[in-house]
Amino acid sequence: MKYKINYYFILSIFLILKKYHFLYLLRYMRAVILNKYNKEGKVEIKQIPIPTLGINDVLVKIKYAGVNPLDNMIIREEVKFIVPYDLPLIMGNEFSGVIEKIGNNVTEFKIGDKVYGRMPLKKIGAFAEYISIDKEAIAIFPDYLSFKEAACIPLTALTAMQAFDLMEAKSGERIFISGGTGSFGAMAIPIGKSLGFKISTSGSGSNRDRVMKLGADEFFDYRNQDYSEILHDVDYVLDTVGDKELEKEFKILKNGGKLISLKGMPNPEFADRIGLGCFKKLILKCFGRGNDNMAEKKNQRYYFLFVESNGKQLAQVSRIFEENKIECSIDEIFDLNNVNQALQKVLKGGSKGKTLLKIDGTDDENNVFEY
Ligand SMILES: NC(=O)c1ccc[n+]([C@@H]2O[C@H](COP(=O)([O-])OP(=O)(O)OC[C@H]3O[C@@H](n4cnc5c(N)ncnc54)[C@H](OP(=O)(O)O)[C@@H]3O)[C@@H](O)[C@H]2O)c1
Repeated sequence: MKYKINYYFILSIFLILKKYHFLYLLRYMRAVILNKYNKEGKVEIKQIPIPTLGINDVLVKIKYAGVNPLDNMIIREEVKFIVPYDLPLIMGNEFSGVIEKIGNNVTEFKIGDKVYGRMPLKKIGAFAEYISIDKEAIAIFPDYLSFKEAACIPLTALTAMQAFDLMEAKSGERIFISGGTGSFGAMAIPIGKSLGFKISTSGSGSNRDRVMKLGADEFFDYRNQDYSEILHDVDYVLDTVGDKELEKEFKILKNGGKLISLKGMPNPEFADRIGLGCFKKLILKCFGRGNDNMAEKKNQRYYFLFVESNGKQLAQVSRIFEENKIECSIDEIFDLNNVNQALQKVLKGGSKGKTLLKIDGTDDENNVFEY
């Protein structure tokens, strides 16, 4: 009798834990952790509990994660003004993977769905075997893409979509994208092309042919050609190079045109748009007007963009990819164990597309565990 009571007691505890997903706490995963901001770009791999699931979250088993310049900027404490992360921090901003569990409020996705996403700004962590992520941040990726191809897309494709939205660009208009030979250009150029824009771009000369194949109409080798002597009256500029390049970029922009920078100085308009706190707004109002002043000379507008997660916009990206069968440019793939080499590779430059981390590279979509 005594044993029977204990058995039922243990069974009921087990069922309660299962119902509320606490069993995940008993399972561990490998994750890339930043313990200390550092200029060398060093992170560590640790065993930590698999994340718990909120009612609006899905648990994703990660297959591949994209490595971006942003990851190095986070490690070097260069984005602290925009997103101040508490340490220790699980690193990683974008991923592809398979849904293994869904929260009680999730009806849009099911177990086994192949999804991708840019992690929400306040809760990154894609360099890990599992993530728990809000359903609003993810989308199903097109069937014709593999997991590794899908992992190249979310962060840079969303950046491009959010930049095109800010521009309010229309089909037939011309956009100059500086540094289009990297992982951002590999998304922005084909997406921009499929939306009907004319694309001029600059970048590293050895990538000319690949970038023209992506759909660019015009290419300038930034080491040997000065685009600002040739281009003029461009409708929009999408800058990835930063403040040192802005003078030339404003020069080629038409009167009244818009310049969106991914790397320049944030300005007061950015502070208002993303709702920074009063103190940070004040700092940008006092010290962040340099590029606005440059823009005002020709009635142009300057915007700074910091890409945010957006599942609906990503679903739109999936449709654009599906319709146009856009291909992805993969530069190099590293094992999770070699994350520090992957970060160094991105830091060194010479990018030919996306650097990826292989987390569960089996590419087996039926690899779904039951808990
Ligand atoms: N704010 C945001 O939300 C956001 C989002 C996405 C990206 N970004 C930023 O955008 C930048 C590009 O990202 P990415 O992922 O494409 O980087 P990436 O893969 O490293 O590519 C950068 C490319 O630009 C080329 N380049 C370097 N200097 C140049 C210059 N003066 N003129 C023209 N091309 C030049 C590089 O060529 P070589 O290395 O061969 O010289 C490389 O091919 C990064 O700084 C990243 O942080 C920001």
